[in-house]
Amino acid sequence: MQAKSTHHIAVAVNSVDEALATYQQLFGAVLEHRETVPEQGVDAATVMLGGNRIELLGATGPDTPVGKFLAKRGQGIHHIAFEVDDLRASLAELEAKGAQLIDTEPRRGLHGLEVAFIHPETSYGVLYELVTNAA
Ligand code: CO
Repeated sequence: MQAKSTHHIAVAVNSVDEALATYQQLFGAVLEHRETVPEQGVDAATVMLGGNRIELLGATGPDTPVGKFLAKRGQGIHHIAFEVDDLRASLAELEAKGAQLIDTEPRRGLHGLEVAFIHPETSYGVLYELVTNAA
């Protein structure tokens, strides 16, 4: 599998609105997307900052994956996303090479992207997301 580029770095935050205002005021971050996906329990914004995309990732409630992350680990870096050309082929290759996958099939992520997560057991404690632009 070949990662093409970093797509975004996600930061778990207690309040997306508050974090967004802070990032705009302090760092000149420019809002790209704002989206809430209730069925995934996610409230998110992406901003462009110094040529990088940062995903500010909040929870819609405590009993959601991000809500549980925040309760256990607190605010901070949540995952790093890499762009790949062929998500299905990348997952098949990783699985064949013994990587532990959270998603064996691509699923719909934020902003119309197809995504899949790799288990942090495989990547030394870092949660990686693979992203491809859905056709
Ligand atoms: Co992400």
